Amino acid sequence: MEALTDAINARRTFAIISHPDAGKTTLTEKLLLFGGAIETAGAVKARGERRRARSDWMKVEQERGISVASSVMTYEYDGRTFNLLDTPGHEDFSEDTYRVLTAVDSAVMVLDVAKGIESQTRKLFEVCRLRDMPITTFVNKLDREGQDPFALLQEIEETLQLDVTPASWPIGMGRDFHGCYDLFQDQLILFDKGGNDTRSEGVALHGLDDPKLDAMLPDHLVAKLREDVEMVRGLCPPFDAEAYLAGNLTPVYFGSAVNNFGVRELLEGLSRQAPSPRPQTALERAVAPDEAKCSGFVFKIQANMDPKHRDRMAFLRLVSGQFKKGMKLKHVRSGKTMAVHNAQLFLARDREVAETAVAGDIIGLPNHGGLRIGDTLTEGELVRFTGVPSFAPELLQRVRPEDPMKAKHLGRALEQLAEEGAARVFKPYLGADWVVGVVGALQFDVLADRIRTEFNVPVRFEPTELMTARWVEADDPHLLKQFVDKNKASLAEDHTGAPVYMARNAWHLNKPMEDFPGLRFLKTKEES
Ligand code: G4P
Repeated sequence: MEALTDAINARRTFAIISHPDAGKTTLTEKLLLFGGAIETAGAVKARGERRRARSDWMKVEQERGISVASSVMTYEYDGRTFNLLDTPGHEDFSEDTYRVLTAVDSAVMVLDVAKGIESQTRKLFEVCRLRDMPITTFVNKLDREGQDPFALLQEIEETLQLDVTPASWPIGMGRDFHGCYDLFQDQLILFDKGGNDTRSEGVALHGLDDPKLDAMLPDHLVAKLREDVEMVRGLCPPFDAEAYLAGNLTPVYFGSAVNNFGVRELLEGLSRQAPSPRPQTALERAVAPDEAKCSGFVFKIQANMDPKHRDRMAFLRLVSGQFKKGMKLKHVRSGKTMAVHNAQLFLARDREVAETAVAGDIIGLPNHGGLRIGDTLTEGELVRFTGVPSFAPELLQRVRPEDPMKAKHLGRALEQLAEEGAARVFKPYLGADWVVGVVGALQFDVLADRIRTEFNVPVRFEPTELMTARWVEADDPHLLKQFVDKNKASLAEDHTGAPVYMARNAWHLNKPMEDFPGLRFLKTKEES
């Protein structure tokens, strides 16, 4: 039991949030490099390219230069096990990102030093805030000219309403970038452009007055550093672990991911400060990570991880206890029990059969067609985890097979894609066509491509007059039935059979809300 608690406490399950181009991919790669999970930089990209080359639908991703799929990368550092959950960067795929964020305990926010907080950073931050998630900030690209660090700290503080405590302080910037003063460990980390050395140590100093500093840096920079640090210490609160864990304060690291600079300090910071698995809320009660019985929830379903096997993987975040190969897990929604022999663990480059895994880890369950996003698995207890969101789509199109004889195949394809969370799929109560809803327009292209290549059904998406959709709920089933009878032409059911109201315009949306005040029209639905 103690060993289990130790193993759980050594887990750091996190994601990186950023605006495209800030350097998330580069930082991911460097974290894996420092974690010893890959030997050479470039491996992450190479892996990505190999995967793309093998998979047809990924061509869309390749053509647009965006990352559509997300995955899990596990590595060790400093006696800890890090589970890094990758998130798609492009905003059309942010729904997937939101769900990934329900499965992590903390996040690293990467900012481009020249650009500061950008639109996508902000949106993702808001999702983290809803869950009071601890955020560690990494300001990237210090080898380029950017904003003054004081201005940047102020921007974080003001736009995100978050206290900031710099963990390091940059010395110069752009061409004149010399390194950072590590404010937490009182050491000087010198910048070595293009340096590939993951092992060199910082120079330990006895505070900022240490004469070693004068010997190692040009006079003007030493003077400025001393002045800056004095100001920073006056302006910013000292690091407060409690405030960080409550999501109210962010430690800020400065670095240059492409030059390996600042990455080790970030890793060490995560090892020291980032939370181990946190308790998870279920409808019935909160479930603590070190409870003896194993439990978890599905936050993502992905098809074609390996096109050779046409597989489908449900990603399960373990919430409590320990998973062991062959374990029988209860699928709470259906009441069925499944023996899990072939769960997968994800390493940086590979995946392997999971013999054991503990709370905080992510395991992949292949080929379990019955699993949906939001589902809970337990060793028997009937708890249902909450919080994995489903978003009302903002773009709705009708989809038809090119060959009318393939309507049934299309139905099956759509059902699978809906369960995977790739799209909302609605079957109108009246009429034969399906309506597909997405959050971002690019998803239609990806879907058409996937339906054609994976299910062999060429399809056409066609615009509709529909503006938005809302899930309809009521405590009183009679009222719901009354509403359904009156509004059949505007109603559909989603892949779970839940009723959905499809509105043509704002008036059409508001009307039933006024006529049926006893109903709830939901923009997001928690999967359960
Ligand atoms: P993303 O995943 O957040 O979208 O960003 P990514 O890591 O792909 O980085 C975006 C661009 O920024 C890349 O350049 C990358 O090399 C560059 N970059 C990342 N970290 C640093 C840094 O510390 N300093 C500087 N100067 N640049 C950095 P690219 O030209 O788009 O691609 P590439 O051809 O260089 O790979």
